[in-house]
Amino acid sequence: MSALDTPVSKRRTFAIISHPDAGKTTLTEKLLLFGGAIQLAGQVKAKRDRRNTRSDWMGIERERGISVVTSVMTFEYGGHVFNLLDTPGHEDFSEDTYRTLTAVDAAVMVLDGAKGIEARTLKLVEVCRLRDIPIVTFINKMDRDSMDPFDLLDDIEKTLALDTTPMTWPIGRGKSFAGSYDLSRSAIRLRDAEDQTPVNGPEDGRIQALLPPQDYENFVGEVELAAGAAKPFVRQSFLEGHLTPVYWGSALRDMGVKDLIDALGAFAPSPREQKADSRTVEANEERMTGFVFKIQANMDPNHRDRIAFMRVCSGKLTRGMKAKLVRTGKAIGLHTPQFFFAQDRSIADEAFAGDIVGIPNHGTLRIGDTLTEGEDLVFRGVPSFAPEILRRVRVADAMKAKKLKEALQQMAEEGVVQVFQPFDGSQPIVGVVGSLQLDVLKERLDAEYGLEISFETTRFSVCRWVTTTEPGKIDEFARRDSSAMCRDLDGDAVYMATSPYSLKYEEDRWPMLKFTDVKDYQ
Ligand code: G4P
Repeated sequence: MSALDTPVSKRRTFAIISHPDAGKTTLTEKLLLFGGAIQLAGQVKAKRDRRNTRSDWMGIERERGISVVTSVMTFEYGGHVFNLLDTPGHEDFSEDTYRTLTAVDAAVMVLDGAKGIEARTLKLVEVCRLRDIPIVTFINKMDRDSMDPFDLLDDIEKTLALDTTPMTWPIGRGKSFAGSYDLSRSAIRLRDAEDQTPVNGPEDGRIQALLPPQDYENFVGEVELAAGAAKPFVRQSFLEGHLTPVYWGSALRDMGVKDLIDALGAFAPSPREQKADSRTVEANEERMTGFVFKIQANMDPNHRDRIAFMRVCSGKLTRGMKAKLVRTGKAIGLHTPQFFFAQDRSIADEAFAGDIVGIPNHGTLRIGDTLTEGEDLVFRGVPSFAPEILRRVRVADAMKAKKLKEALQQMAEEGVVQVFQPFDGSQPIVGVVGSLQLDVLKERLDAEYGLEISFETTRFSVCRWVTTTEPGKIDEFARRDSSAMCRDLDGDAVYMATSPYSLKYEEDRWPMLKFTDVKDYQ
């Protein structure tokens, strides 16, 4: 037993993954309403008028109506503390999303009932799987024409190779959608009523009264089939990422959301152990540890600040404590750690494993940094992906080359872009996964550093981190063409190839070198 068992067991840290338009924003808003974290519906979403919302941190986001930033929302409900990590919807910012998924213990997968599994959902589930993140499924928009529920379950099973257990069943669909039927408890919930109403099986008169005759007949038949054919819910399989419990609802019409939040409280995992280089860290250990998975600049346009988002992995973070930044060995004071709510931030007096705290800083902290109470350990697994778009940055005023270098370094530390410095001293190369990242870079360099820049194509189209166990081999490889070898932010070697063929050619010729497209930070 540890004094931290209780606060740890109360916490649920999760993200919502979905294809754009499936209803993630609407669901987020409804979940926050449960927690009383926001007063009025429409404050999180308000896509048409984002001027008053927290996600309106950047002009570019306003212009394009997409969420560039990742935000964290904490709320309490039913005796649990929920930390919901929001992720950008646009795939050009997928690196940000992948990094965020390293900081959660569970994911809610939102599907559009009319569409089933879409491309981006598939990709995000793959990332969850790499980290064994358990997934709860919420099939949304059941108030509209949707696919047959059995076909939807089949789609999840086949496309994602994931077992499903329907926990509820939709009562009616489209216009007749009235609520959810709890398959194991034989109870119904209409329009997110606080409590379920027990019924005598699917043929209960109260259900019959809700539906047109044909819909009622279909419902009874489906529930019988589902009860007979569905796999039982085995929590261990869910926790290991093999099985997903499925809920049906309509976020817009407040249906099924209560089922979902109750499920997260009841069986989503509390903060899990985290793997570090030297050992595995348990959530209820006494000493504080955590890692930075995101840096956000300019959250508040009135205060040009930079916030590092840290997931606490163990112990208790208390305001004013000193923590060791393992990368540099230096101590930093946590004087004003912050918590985030939908609309506000507040000073965090204490935080526990699973909590996300914002640490204001002026460039001391980077993505992937580990903070501890003294122990030299480094958490693994905040990944960096080989960018697919490589550009040189040209600054209009040549006198500002040094300023550009500094600015690019900061942008790289924040994870906005990756920056590669060629061995031969030529202009740095920036790499991004999606082209919108370039737009963000251009806008921020202009707004924050007064640098007017343009991008130029390079002859390179592929890059890979290069490692080897044989000393001197990387230098030998680099000597052939020093303009094609670079160092990343951490000083690691990166090879730039003009095409996948030339990469393959070099891989064959240099078997003692390992070329990789994913790198864990640090
Ligand atoms: P996203 O964050 O995943 O991109 O989705 P978002 O919540 O913004 O929802 C996308 C659209 O789907 C929104 O419509 C939203 O109102 C609608 N929606 C979300 N949940 C439901 C639901 O349960 N039922 C129905 N019928 N619609 C839902 P919008 O952006 O306002 O566009 P429009 O469809 O009103 O034109």
